[in-house]
Parts: sequence; structure tokens; C-alpha cells
Amino acid sequence: MKLLDGKLIADQIKTEIATEVKEQFLDKGIEPPHIAAVLVGEDPASLTYVASKEKACHEVGFVSSVYRYPANITQEKLLEVVDFLNADNEIDGFIVQLPLPDHIDEHVIIERIDPRKDIDGFHPVNLGKMVLNLPCFLPATPYGIITLLERYNIETAGKNIVVLGRSHIVGTPVSILLSRKSNPGNATVTLCHSYSKDIPAIAARADILIVAMGKQGFVTADMVKQDAVVIDVGVHRVPSTETKSGFRLMGDVDFDRVSRKCSYITPVPGGVGPMTIVSLLRNTLRAAKKEVN
Ligand code: GUN
Repeated sequence: MKLLDGKLIADQIKTEIATEVKEQFLDKGIEPPHIAAVLVGEDPASLTYVASKEKACHEVGFVSSVYRYPANITQEKLLEVVDFLNADNEIDGFIVQLPLPDHIDEHVIIERIDPRKDIDGFHPVNLGKMVLNLPCFLPATPYGIITLLERYNIETAGKNIVVLGRSHIVGTPVSILLSRKSNPGNATVTLCHSYSKDIPAIAARADILIVAMGKQGFVTADMVKQDAVVIDVGVHRVPSTETKSGFRLMGDVDFDRVSRKCSYITPVPGGVGPMTIVSLLRNTLRAAKKEVN
């Protein structure tokens, strides 16, 4: 078994981005890429994600701003924030951190984002272009996953890929990306969800298994083919007496047993997570270079 070391690849990509920021922006007297995040309320996972993103931005020389609002902000007011960020020429791209409070319709908010600044790739225009294989912003986690496969030279053409979970953020877009006529891509993709029958039997046929269900330890060794490639998108805080913080992170896959059977596997933490952050940076760089219209 070999680790798909997302932390290592993300660090390499960050070095590449930092070089580009220096050469293409700072050395020419151009303002570096500027990313903004809108954070509503205090969801703990959202706070962690935004904090990691800010840290990564500083490492590569981007400017990063966070706009914080209380959970009781109205939808109207949040739309005004989006309008303001769309219009601000200093800001190259921004994200509205999800989930939003129940009284706000996230689709209404996302549709208001200028697709040229939608570095999350969540706007219907970007998702539509992704389906059509046109230049667009790819959602960060799927983009991170295909980059990891690419950098480890893992062939996807003609392979059976099974995706567990059909979220709008991960499962649905990654299944589309990998079935596109493209490299990585050209795979035969099966997308499993809550109505799928006999998920263990379907998963066991996968050459590449991508797990994004949000159920800790769901994938056990019997659900994995010998020498399969396993990508674990799950992140769960589990109480632990072995760490100072009193918890540790675990994925949707039973890593200890599955890792003995597969050819490659992503660890949690240090697999998909760092690739997601670095993909958002890559999208921001493309936004700053006006590569997506
Ligand atoms: N919530 C969980 N993942 C994401 C993400 O990639 N982007 C945004 N905006 N919110 C999220």
C-alpha cells in the first residue's frame, strides 16, 4: 500500500503558486491575487475551513479577507454583501461558506455570485460548463481529487470508478469530471446514494473507490477490491485519549484494515483536505489572471 500524500502534493503546488505570484504579480508591480470568504454564524467546521484557507493564502502571497456576519443576518442583507463583492475590483474571487442558516436559501445566494468570481465553482454556469468540458472553475474538492490522481500517475481511462455519496459539493461533480472525455477522466463511473441497492457489492467492483458519504468508518475491507485505489473524503472528529486536544480526525473508510488491501489510499487527515484548499488557491490564481470568462 502507498499513501496518496495530499499534504505533500499540496505543498508542492503551493510552492508553484508562490513562484507564480512573485513572477507574474509582485515583480511586475501588480497587486497579488485577492480572495474573500463570507462566513455566516459559527459552524465549527466552517471556522476550521476558513482558518486553513487564510493560512494557505498567506503562505503563497495572496491577500485574504474574511467577512463575518451573525447567524441571524437576513437573506436580503447577504445578497447585498454578494453584490458588493461582485462589484469590488480589488477582489478576484470569493466564496460564501456553506452551510448557511436555514432561513437563507443557499441557491439564491450562489446564483447571485458573478460566475467569473465563483472560485468554489458552485454557480450553475460553472457547473454547466464543467459538464460540457468548457473552461470553468472546478469545485475545490473534486479538483483536488483529480489532481491527486494525476500527480500520482494513476490511470482513470477505462477504469471502473465508484463514487459513494451524491452531494453537490463532492460526489456529483467528481462523478461527472471522471466520466468526461478528458484526462483524468474517460472512466466508467457509478454514483451510489441512499437509494442504491447493495452498495458493498458495487463498491467491491471498483478499481478506484471515492468515498464522500459523511459516515465514519462506513467502508470496511470486504467492500474493497484487492489493489484498488481508495480516496477518502470523510472528516470526523472522534474523541481520543491519545491526543492533547482530546479528539482525532477519522474518515469514512476503516483505514487500518482497508489500507492492507488497496494499492493506494488517502490518509485522514493529510489526504483530500489539503488538496481542497490548494485547489481553491489555484482557482483564485486563474480568477486573478482572468482565465475564466
Ligand atoms: N462547505 C464545505 N465545503 C465547502 C466548500 O468547498 N466551499 C464552501 N463555500 N463551503 C463549503
